[in-house]
Amino acid sequence: MPLCQAFRSKGLSGFGYTSTAEEVTAGLSLAGKNILVTGCNSGLGLETMRVLALRGACVVGTARTLEKARAACETVAGLTVPLACELSDPTSVRACVASIVAKGIQLDAIICNAGIMALPKIELAYGYEMQFFTNHIGHFILVTELLNQLTLTGRVVVVSSAAHTRAPKGGIEFDNLDGNKGYGPWRAYSQSKFANILFAKELSRRFRGTQRTANAVHPGVVATNLARYNRLGHLLYAAAGPLLFKNAHQGAATQVYVATSPALATVSGMYFSHSNRTAPRADAENPTIAKKLWELSEKIATRLH
Ligand SMILES: NC(=O)c1ccc[n+]([C@@H]2O[C@H](COP(=O)([O-])OP(=O)(O)OC[C@H]3O[C@@H](n4cnc5c(N)ncnc54)[C@H](OP(=O)(O)O)[C@@H]3O)[C@@H](O)[C@H]2O)c1
Repeated sequence: MPLCQAFRSKGLSGFGYTSTAEEVTAGLSLAGKNILVTGCNSGLGLETMRVLALRGACVVGTARTLEKARAACETVAGLTVPLACELSDPTSVRACVASIVAKGIQLDAIICNAGIMALPKIELAYGYEMQFFTNHIGHFILVTELLNQLTLTGRVVVVSSAAHTRAPKGGIEFDNLDGNKGYGPWRAYSQSKFANILFAKELSRRFRGTQRTANAVHPGVVATNLARYNRLGHLLYAAAGPLLFKNAHQGAATQVYVATSPALATVSGMYFSHSNRTAPRADAENPTIAKKLWELSEKIATRLH
């Protein structure tokens, strides 16, 4: 298929590469729904919050600091609740959970959107590589400790990336999570995005027999601030992004679609790209690796209490 046609074509959902978050929610009322979005102050998170609030949802928008969350919420029309949630700091994540409990907010969806990409040099949080810790462990603690606040039909959407296909063999280097056997910025990012898919898959297995769902998404390559830690990547995103990549309106579509579409009420354990179901790398479907990652994540979460 010619490239330009691939961009224009729509999948089974009726949406495709160029669909925007507004388009995938056209005609949908989210009034009365509460949806949490992490990383609400930039890129896909900000657009996700804007469109969910536009459709009537009350959006719990989290950012590293309350100031950032407040400033982002003030740019959006509609109902929002700003909260701090620094994902690399379990104390901050747990304070966010405590605020939601104290406010009595029942969540209809949690969108694990925040992320960092390709830190040039290894950085550690509590002895674990920072991208693994922020992108996966932070969200693991947030979601598992918010389960009592998730409605009986609640959805968890984990924002992964097609970059997961470049994760190390086996997906997760369980013996190198502190970088003792070497570090590569993209390798570590890809591994963290692989972990995002495993998390959604295992959570979905644990939701079996309930009406709750968990899915992972790839938003597409989108011109945002994500490449900020990588000088070359940042230049590429800034210079070529507007021409070559999706814009944030299009980039936010898949996560908004998976969090809200009535057509997906019972769809769980899947991976979506361009607002359609697709297959991740084969070993991201392996329940043994997913269970192993879950058990390790639980241990880390417990140790950091
Ligand atoms: N853009 C793409 O091409 C692309 C492709 C595939 C997947 N994704 C995924 O899409 C998601 C959103 O990325 P984006 O493109 O919108 O990038 P972005 O514009 O850089 O936004 C990332 C958000 O995550 C927040 N964040 C980073 N570290 C955090 C931490 N430790 N605690 C709490 N929040 C933190 C950032 O906050 P600060 O601004 O305060 O740092 C920001 O709000 C990420 O998970 C990314 O992996 C993006």
